[in-house]
Amino acid sequence: SLQPVILSGGSGTRLWPASREHYPKQLLPLTSQDTLLQITATRADGIAGVDIAEPIVVTNEDHRFIIAEQLRQIGKPSRRIVLEPVGRNTAPAMQLAALVAAQEGADPVLLVMPADHVVADAPAFRKAMLEGHAQAQAGELVTFGIVPDRAETGYGYIRVGAPVAGADSARQLAAFVEKPNAQRAAEYVSSGEYLWNSGIFMMKASIWLKALASLRPDIAAACEQAVTAAQRDMDFIRVDKALFTACPSDSIDYAVMEKLGAHPELGAAIVVPLDAGWSDVGAWDALWQVSDKDAEGNVTRGEVMLHDTQDSLIFAGSRLVATVGIKDVIVVETPDAVMVADKAHAQDVKAIVTRIKSEG
Ligand code: GDD
Ligand code: MG
Repeated sequence: SLQPVILSGGSGTRLWPASREHYPKQLLPLTSQDTLLQITATRADGIAGVDIAEPIVVTNEDHRFIIAEQLRQIGKPSRRIVLEPVGRNTAPAMQLAALVAAQEGADPVLLVMPADHVVADAPAFRKAMLEGHAQAQAGELVTFGIVPDRAETGYGYIRVGAPVAGADSARQLAAFVEKPNAQRAAEYVSSGEYLWNSGIFMMKASIWLKALASLRPDIAAACEQAVTAAQRDMDFIRVDKALFTACPSDSIDYAVMEKLGAHPELGAAIVVPLDAGWSDVGAWDALWQVSDKDAEGNVTRGEVMLHDTQDSLIFAGSRLVATVGIKDVIVVETPDAVMVADKAHAQDVKAIVTRIKSEG
């Protein structure tokens, strides 16, 4: 069987003003009437011959009711919503999920998925997951790699090694580099030897627990204590605040993936290519890219009126939004803020959020 684990801790600042700290992008209906979290919760369904368990969700305490409600709405309730009193990045979040999954005595294969990604081609996704599942059951630590199309510095890079014997498309993971600088990223892309890390991982709970205990015993111990002292509250598992707050902060990528190469005793890591219209929807231009467009190339939501407008994204949240004579523009209207940006500068929306935070 396969145990989905959904990591829902980010805030998606570059999707301001739709995405807010108290209402981050994974909880928004950005690509359809379902939210990214809801779409993620059903993504693993239908992997041929694999029994899919009820998801474990790891999230910030503040989002517990909205998460529970969104999952209930789509008939995918979770009875294990793990609540973090503070964010400590993905390695501790993943550790909490692995500990909770292992509490039941079995050693399930975990499928770790960020709650805020888009995967357009569901059958291709399931095919890659099926191949990953076979490898994970055999004890491998499985990553899923995307063919890069630019020298993005916000991603992890995986150097692809030899084909895995007997596998369809899986390859050995020769090296993992998290968020390289721009020059390195450009070299990796032009070498043709690297894939982007999708941020989706698959491995047996025991394999993860062993790897973290060996590479970051401090994080492993802090999480173990925080889970042992956790309070059950309906479907929520509230980890101990003081113990979890004391946990060091680190990502799966830095804490484990980058270090595996130097530790063959922890087992091999592999990469399964994922060609399924993956996007982490980092900013508005990426959302425009992955969304269905009208004949003029526009993506719209809400009450909009467009005239002579092309290749733009126009979201109206509470009022009529009209545009005339524009191209490659992002307009996002919400009750308390309106943002207008050149599509080519969509990444820089982060600067506005930083200013709002500092200027109050
Ligand atoms: N529960 C929980 N707690 N979830 C978290 C936390 C946390 O403290 N921190 C992050 N997450 C969730 C985010 O919501 C997101 O869904 C996922 O974990 C990944 O975290 P990001 O902060 O978005 O990571 P990143 O985008 O910088 O980098 C990761 O993803 C890239 C692909 O999108 C890395 O895995 C990169 O290697 C990868 O290329
Ligand atoms: Mg991300």
